[in-house]
Amino acid sequence: MSRDADGLAPPSRCRPTDELPPLLEFRDGSPVESPADWRDRREELRRSLRHYVYGYAPEPPEIETTTERTAGVCDGAATLVETEIAFADLPTDAPSITLAVFLPSEAVAEGDAGGSVPVLLGLNWRGNHAAVDDPAVTITDTAREYGGRGDGAADRGAAADYWCVEHVLGRGYGFATYHLADVDPDSGDPADGVRPYYDDELPGPPGTEWGVLAAWAWGLQRCVDALRPMEAVRAEAIAVLGHSRCGKAALLAGATDERIGLVAPHQSGTGGMALDRDNDQEGIGDITGTFPQWFADTYAAFDGQVDRLPVDSHSLAALVAPRPLIDTAGARDHWTNPGRALDAVRAAEPVWELLGAEGIGDDLPLYEDDEISGETVGPLCHYRRETGHTLNQGYLDAVLDFADVHFDGTG
Ligand code: GCU
Repeated sequence: MSRDADGLAPPSRCRPTDELPPLLEFRDGSPVESPADWRDRREELRRSLRHYVYGYAPEPPEIETTTERTAGVCDGAATLVETEIAFADLPTDAPSITLAVFLPSEAVAEGDAGGSVPVLLGLNWRGNHAAVDDPAVTITDTAREYGGRGDGAADRGAAADYWCVEHVLGRGYGFATYHLADVDPDSGDPADGVRPYYDDELPGPPGTEWGVLAAWAWGLQRCVDALRPMEAVRAEAIAVLGHSRCGKAALLAGATDERIGLVAPHQSGTGGMALDRDNDQEGIGDITGTFPQWFADTYAAFDGQVDRLPVDSHSLAALVAPRPLIDTAGARDHWTNPGRALDAVRAAEPVWELLGAEGIGDDLPLYEDDEISGETVGPLCHYRRETGHTLNQGYLDAVLDFADVHFDGTG
């Protein structure tokens, strides 16, 4: 996240992708020839991704929400809607998610008469209160425990240049976020977070229990449950975004939930958009060695035999089709392997084509000086800036430009 990857080994060159597991072929070898076939193939791939990589999450629970609204936040630019999301099937002392939703003040003017706005839903790792410097944002107990310094007060606004919330609002979008520790603090202790509460309800065999990435993705999907009924939110225009480990979770959330209107993984690397095959940066052994909790146990077994993995990151990307997907990468962020992320995007393109959407064309990657408009992008995009491992306004503008195109220019 804050690590700058400058100085690591140079990125691998792009390689041909014909050795990847085919997307448009069922596991029994029969071809996938129509959008109807793709529905079945999509289910097959989804199951394989759960089985071999991320683990099986439980069925979506019913949520119970409590909401508090504060006007005049961010120097008057926003109305803050803080929504506590509890899970009806869990005991009252179980974890809950505190979702912070910043809506442009105009959008909620006069009792929701302002209309509805598209929303960027981001997963954060420092606490909601780090996103903007405003005392109205609750410093949650989880953030105090797992977020940053002391009682959290010193972290107010610490990620302001990262999320650029006021800029996002100025572009006519709402911004929503939850702190990953609400669902799992990433401590490596399987007793932490929400997962132990669902131990008896997971649909897969032993060894395929959901990892932390799947849990965070599940949390994003519960935020979508809470956002969609909000009057000021355009339910069909929720874009999901995350950086690094949060980018992996955002991609997984968007890929496996068709209610999400646009998917924007940022520098998501291995376990995200970068292919496992021919990845000379972070390998399966590296990531499962350092972060075994992120995946199902099955995934680690593919270290040293990646060719046996029946899926790869292009399979995950393909689940997004035909919805819009923008993968953003830092040209100097070598560890996330932008080259192999681009290869995954290209390898997934035939699925968009099968579904009748325009493909990516020959012009990718787009770079920071390239225009993102209806003339230059289709529903699948890979975009790079000259940076290391970071998120900033340049990337957010690229995502919003792309969202403007796909959310009918009403953003
Ligand atoms: C490590 C890890 C990456 C991950 C990153 C992060 O660098 O190897 O896979 O994306 O942490 O989330 O910060």
